[in-house]
Amino acid sequence: MKVTVGVCGGIAAYKAAELVRTLQKQALDVHVVMTEAAQHFVQPLTFAALTGHKVITGLWDMPESADADAASSIEHMDAAQSTDALVVAPATANVLAKFAHGVADDFLSTLYLATTAPVIVAPAMNVNMWQHPATQANLEVLANRNVRVVAPESGYLACGMTGAGRLAETETILEAVLSVLHHRNDLAGETVLVTAGGTREALDPVRFLGNRSSGKMGYAMAEAAQRRGARVILVSAPTALRGPANCEMVPVVTTQDMRDAVLSRLDQATIIIKAAAVADYRARVPADQKLRRSGPLTLELEPTEDILAAVVERRRPGLLVVGFAAETEDVLAHGRDKLLRKGADAIVLNDVSREGVGFDSDRNAVTFLTRDRAIELPEMNKRELADHILDETLRLRRPLQVLAETDADLPVTSGD
Ligand code: PMT
Repeated sequence: MKVTVGVCGGIAAYKAAELVRTLQKQALDVHVVMTEAAQHFVQPLTFAALTGHKVITGLWDMPESADADAASSIEHMDAAQSTDALVVAPATANVLAKFAHGVADDFLSTLYLATTAPVIVAPAMNVNMWQHPATQANLEVLANRNVRVVAPESGYLACGMTGAGRLAETETILEAVLSVLHHRNDLAGETVLVTAGGTREALDPVRFLGNRSSGKMGYAMAEAAQRRGARVILVSAPTALRGPANCEMVPVVTTQDMRDAVLSRLDQATIIIKAAAVADYRARVPADQKLRRSGPLTLELEPTEDILAAVVERRRPGLLVVGFAAETEDVLAHGRDKLLRKGADAIVLNDVSREGVGFDSDRNAVTFLTRDRAIELPEMNKRELADHILDETLRLRRPLQVLAETDADLPVTSGD
């Protein structure tokens, strides 16, 4: 597999040589792209000698195979686009800003826009630059675009200050690269059906019963599955989000719509992820005209059908079914009850009483609950979390330990 290392202009640029060697030891074919500033810290020759490939130092320099008339930037782009991962180490505040804003004024920033390969950035900079809201905002943008961020470490910095900003250890960056490569196409051949957002039940022509789901978690699941090679069907209640390109989008509004959309596609799916927050009740008879305010109002509600339970009832062998649950108290007990009652293979448990995670947040912390295990997935960006949830879901395919439905305490472990 081919990995492209982007080296930016910072004192940690010399550490990129060690990273290149470490990647090569994993039998990866490593190519290097340097920014103009990086060349003030390390010579391209160092990387050329290590990799055996010409180092790309600019949009207009000549590629290995080019004759004098070749359109060098286009050839470079072809070569670079065939990479399986782009890892930028060290990534400066400047390159993070360029990536976040789509500025393509040198080869590395142009490659970032042009590549479809997974991207990893390992920032290194002065502590104040790292903590600056502009840098943090740029990182948030990139994390939301599935760029894997390997956070810098704290310690003594070359600028004489102490704090966060030191390039992460080579081993940590290697782990991120290997994890990204491992995920590449591991869902090829799967059809993942994801439900997302909050269903709405009309009370009258202008009002509805709804909930606080933004759809972010479900969309992150859909994007991660698609990135990992799955065909994705996204059954979405109304959200303000744009679905991943190339997935089959099925817009729905009510629980009944969602039920019909899911059940009619059940035979296509190999994995079902039910991240939607589905209305449990609807008005028995929605008003034809707008309800007028005139004192207390009593609404007669009836339960909606449980889509997850209907899926489990109709499931065929091999279909993996993962539900979600948003709880505010006795989280583990309620989650376990739902897991057993609904018959899913796993329930992803959200404690939505916690600040900063769950509904509408870009971040989440969950417990992946199966009959025999409760795996804590600590707070992280929903996009990153989606990959962990998919990893745990795929693990369900391993021969399962058959366990009785006992009342014994579940072992709680940390996700890796
Ligand atoms: O969308 P975000 O803002 O990113 O927020 C994410 C989330 C918190 C909404 C999401 O991660 C989540 O937890 N979704 C499940 C919400 C929930 O409360 O579900 P539940 O406990 O009501 O239902 C449990 C499971 O049964 C869910 O998979 C649900 O899709 C399913 N269900 C529920 C009711 C119903 N009538 N039919 C169902 O299929």
